[in-house]
Amino acid sequence: MKLVVAVTGASGSIYTQRLLAEIAKSPDVEECHVVLSTHAQEVAATELGSEGLTIPRGMKVHGDKTMDVPFVSGSARFEAMVIVPCSMGTLGRIAHGYSDGTIARAADVFLKEKRKLILVPRETPWNLVQARNVVTLIEAGALMLPAIPSFYGRPKSVEDVADTVVARILDHLGLRNDLMKRWKSSSEERE
Ligand SMILES: Cc1cc2nc3c(=O)[nH]c(=O)nc-3n(C[C@H](O)[C@H](O)[C@H](O)COP(=O)(O)O)c2cc1C
Repeated sequence: MKLVVAVTGASGSIYTQRLLAEIAKSPDVEECHVVLSTHAQEVAATELGSEGLTIPRGMKVHGDKTMDVPFVSGSARFEAMVIVPCSMGTLGRIAHGYSDGTIARAADVFLKEKRKLILVPRETPWNLVQARNVVTLIEAGALMLPAIPSFYGRPKSVEDVADTVVARILDHLGLRNDLMKRWKSSSEERE
């Protein structure tokens, strides 16, 4: 599978860090491109320490101002794009078809090609503009997977809490994982 993981300047770098680590381990991922918005590393440095995000070896890293990447064209064969965390600014630009940077253009392409586009927004509360943008994107075919953790598995650490969201992202990418306890499941679901 070829994947794009886009990172924007919303809070939630821990989700990105843990998702990238899982993707790096997955035998099902052939290629993973990471796109960082201008504000992504700034917020990541605030949340994770001055180094910011650690990008696993083998992943290709891009800024948000290049069109010199394959996945901004529908002709390139990519299966899924995840934007995690997704700021409401980026979400709004995608909802209105701006296509003005790598992330917004790639998202536009994934929508038009009917490929999997997963947005992980992090904002609270929402105003009406944001709520309408969310609806517009759901109507356009995006999967809205907000960074809302669950607690029924009794997570023991901040990482466990974050993994309740990361597990759902991996599920929707079709990547096997046993990051969280599944409701009423007798055993961990690693197949
Ligand atoms: C520490 C910090 C945390 C932020 N958290 C959020 C957030 O959770 N959600 C959000 O939509 N924007 C958040 N922002 C604002 C975005 O970074 C800002 O709107 C930025 O322009 C988004 O640009 P981008 O989407 O290109 O990354 C945060 C900014 C800072 C400095």
